[in-house]
Amino acid sequence: MIDTKAFDKLIADRRSVYPKQYNGVPVDDSIVTQMLENANWAPTHGLTEPWRFVVFSGEALGRLADFFQAVYKETTPTENFDEGKYQKQRDNVLQSSHVVAIIMKRQETGKIPEVEEVCAVACAVQNMWLTATAYGVGCYWSTGGPTFKPQGKAYFGLGEQDKLLGFMYIGNYDGDLPAGKRKSIEDKVQKG
Ligand SMILES: Cc1cc2nc3c(=O)[nH]c(=O)nc-3n(C[C@H](O)[C@H](O)[C@H](O)COP(=O)(O)O)c2cc1C
Repeated sequence: MIDTKAFDKLIADRRSVYPKQYNGVPVDDSIVTQMLENANWAPTHGLTEPWRFVVFSGEALGRLADFFQAVYKETTPTENFDEGKYQKQRDNVLQSSHVVAIIMKRQETGKIPEVEEVCAVACAVQNMWLTATAYGVGCYWSTGGPTFKPQGKAYFGLGEQDKLLGFMYIGNYDGDLPAGKRKSIEDKVQKG
């Protein structure tokens, strides 16, 4: 039987934990594997299972950081170029233990609408995020950097109908996390 109180707490305790909060201690690969296993149990209309992930750790992070910086340089007009933002592209990746690219792979038939496939991937990401919370690991979903840019699509060899939906940054952290903030659910629900 599930401990429902613990389950409710896990959901409320899930936080975005950012690379600057990571302590440099690598996250065990087995935890990342479990995050991906649990992602795979997301609901999926028509069993299309549209989630795809590319996992970067160790030396691969350096290559990803180079790519992030190259895209920033290529897509930022000279007058807007910000050295701090350029450096942050690199730091965010290198401060992480793992970075997971989040991809929506569209079915050739296109039978299931795109929005449903994106929803399914978001469910998969939430499964990953809750798993990290349960294992005491920090992570957050970023839609910055090459997300939504043609360079991102090309880097991951995506098809026209596929989408790069962002990156999950993952790392260990010390201490307590701030309490989450949400307005009351009562203002978002009405009787039909
Ligand atoms: C689809 C999606 C994209 C996000 N992209 C970013 C992002 O690019 N940068 C960022 O700082 N946070 C990003 N976040 C994290 C939100 O800022 C975060 O969930 C929100 O502040 C609430 O905090 P919590 O996750 O700790 O409850 C994203 C969250 C989602 C669901």
